Amino acid sequence: MYRSDSPGLSRLLTPILQRHGRDATRLLQILREVQDACHSVPAGAIDLVAAHLDVPRVNVEGVAGFYSFLSAHPAGEYRLLFSGNITDQMLGKDELMQYLCNKLWVEPGRLSEDGLVSVDSTSCTGMCDQGPAALVNGWPLTNLDHNRLDLIAELIRSRKPVADWPPMLFEVADNVHRGDVLLGQPFEPGAAIRATLARGAKETLAEMDKSNLRGRGGAGFKTASKWAFCHAAIAEEEGGVICDVGGQPERFIVCNADEGEPGTFKDRVLLNSHADLVFEGMTVGARVVGASKGFLYLRGEYRYLLQQLEAVLKRRREAGLLGGNILGQTDFSFDIEIHLGAGAYICGEESALIESLEGKRGRPRNRPPFPVTRGYKGRPTVVDNVETFACAARIAENGGAWFASIGTAQSTGTKLLSVSGDVARPGIYEYPFGVTVRQILDDCGAQGRSYAVQVSGPSGTTISWKEFERKIAFEDLPTAGALMVFRHRRDLFQAARNFADFFAHESCGFCTPCRVGTQLQKKILEKIQSGHGTASDLEELKRLGHILKTMSHCGLGSSAANPVLDILEKFPDMYESKLKAFAFEPAFDLDGALETARKITGRDDEWAHL
Ligand SMILES: Cc1cc2nc3c(=O)[nH]c(=O)nc-3n(C[C@H](O)[C@H](O)[C@H](O)COP(=O)(O)O)c2cc1C
Ligand code: SF4
Repeated sequence: MYRSDSPGLSRLLTPILQRHGRDATRLLQILREVQDACHSVPAGAIDLVAAHLDVPRVNVEGVAGFYSFLSAHPAGEYRLLFSGNITDQMLGKDELMQYLCNKLWVEPGRLSEDGLVSVDSTSCTGMCDQGPAALVNGWPLTNLDHNRLDLIAELIRSRKPVADWPPMLFEVADNVHRGDVLLGQPFEPGAAIRATLARGAKETLAEMDKSNLRGRGGAGFKTASKWAFCHAAIAEEEGGVICDVGGQPERFIVCNADEGEPGTFKDRVLLNSHADLVFEGMTVGARVVGASKGFLYLRGEYRYLLQQLEAVLKRRREAGLLGGNILGQTDFSFDIEIHLGAGAYICGEESALIESLEGKRGRPRNRPPFPVTRGYKGRPTVVDNVETFACAARIAENGGAWFASIGTAQSTGTKLLSVSGDVARPGIYEYPFGVTVRQILDDCGAQGRSYAVQVSGPSGTTISWKEFERKIAFEDLPTAGALMVFRHRRDLFQAARNFADFFAHESCGFCTPCRVGTQLQKKILEKIQSGHGTASDLEELKRLGHILKTMSHCGLGSSAANPVLDILEKFPDMYESKLKAFAFEPAFDLDGALETARKITGRDDEWAHL
């Protein structure tokens, strides 16, 4: 264990601390690099970072303890984290993980005795179209099978640096099977900015309004209204209603690339192959609301994209599409910084994301005030999804009426869908809104008789085969983009358990209904799985679901019971076939616990039993 006065630790951390300066908003970025350098965040590093940033030690410790990719205890020179989504499980993740553990003589979740390697599970890594997937020291491994694991075990045993591993292990394919206006048409970098400058900021906002674009991150809020609110907040601010911080009126554009909802991976593809479109949409947004600074909040699982995204930003600066005086416009400066997450699903929630950007734990804020009036550093901030910004660039280029002519009246444009599970061609499908689930299943080669589809990830909706004529649209089946397909005979109770584990693990712990409710939900499903469930447990699940939905502080808690209750309602036999016949069995065997007392006292009469 490193101590803060250890010269080795100080030498290791000095370049990191110098690179980030004394800005406390860099705290999470610093800790990520400490984790890389030391394979943990040791107590000594917390002292050094706290002293360097001049923040209380407890704050640094709080942040280090919050994010799952940061660990107080050594995680090994090689840290393997298997993606634990249900689709990875369906592809054999549990057996493969055990296989690797056996090869490396390590127990799941423990560090090997020589300190070389640890193997554990993590939440979905966003590679469900090429699972089973894992991360090794943060880098994605895809299409894992026994052969690949044999090779990986060999590379680890021979202590080969991850940078020298064969590149084929790290290949991440886009798997686009159907493109439309976002993925299927070429884009000339600068086209949307030029159109915006020619039209004017106010007129561009009017085009956004006409397009009826709604946010692609899940909630479906109208983008033009959000941008208009941010603009109005600035107007208020200039009237002195909102106080300035540091005397400098600032506003921010934030692109939410946290993409943590299990089964969702479409933002990964946009960022990998269409980053210009996304950055251009952010720049259009900046012109409309008057922002000079933007952030891309990139989930830690996608750090492999960081270098190429930085290269795109550099190229755009050189082309005059970012930085000072964009395209020669002296009153238009805007630049984008990339901030990496560190394994926390809650940081996709916009106010938690802003906290994380500020270098803190990702704890959702009270709302109102909303980020559009008080966001990053208390300033008006627009937070939009990656796909929303890509759509905004297309609208700036082609006009609002063009966009509104695609899709349905209430859901204009196209939607990117991440399709995985029991299908022949998992990957990305872009459709105009209004497409039926049945059409998608036909196109992706759903295997056998499809039984159920989980739309929009665990926090979304489970639909049964009776509902396959329903349409992907805000007015019918809204989705942030995930479609996980389950064929006939899949045990959907396992899906419910997987999702309940996910929410219990990802709850940030701030409010009691969610912190306790998600754990109780998980425990009840474990009880049913072990053969001790009764009808009263199903009633308890419904009661808990109501509490979670109505009393949680944020969207994570309020949606945590969705899949558990949807599957119970639509596939009751999945639960009932596992229940005991009688109506109630306590989770704790009180009479069994009295056995020790009976033995000590030598009693076995009727009064010594319950
Ligand atoms: C628990 C939770 C996780 C979320 N994760 C994401 C995410 O990964 N990406 C995203 O764009 N929005 C996510 N959201 C929604 C955001 O809070 C926010 O509504 C969205 O980024 C706004 O962008 P949009 O208007 O373009 O959809 C999440 C919300 C909750 C409650
Ligand atoms: S609902 Fe859950 S994730 Fe949201 S604030 Fe409460 S504990 Fe945290």
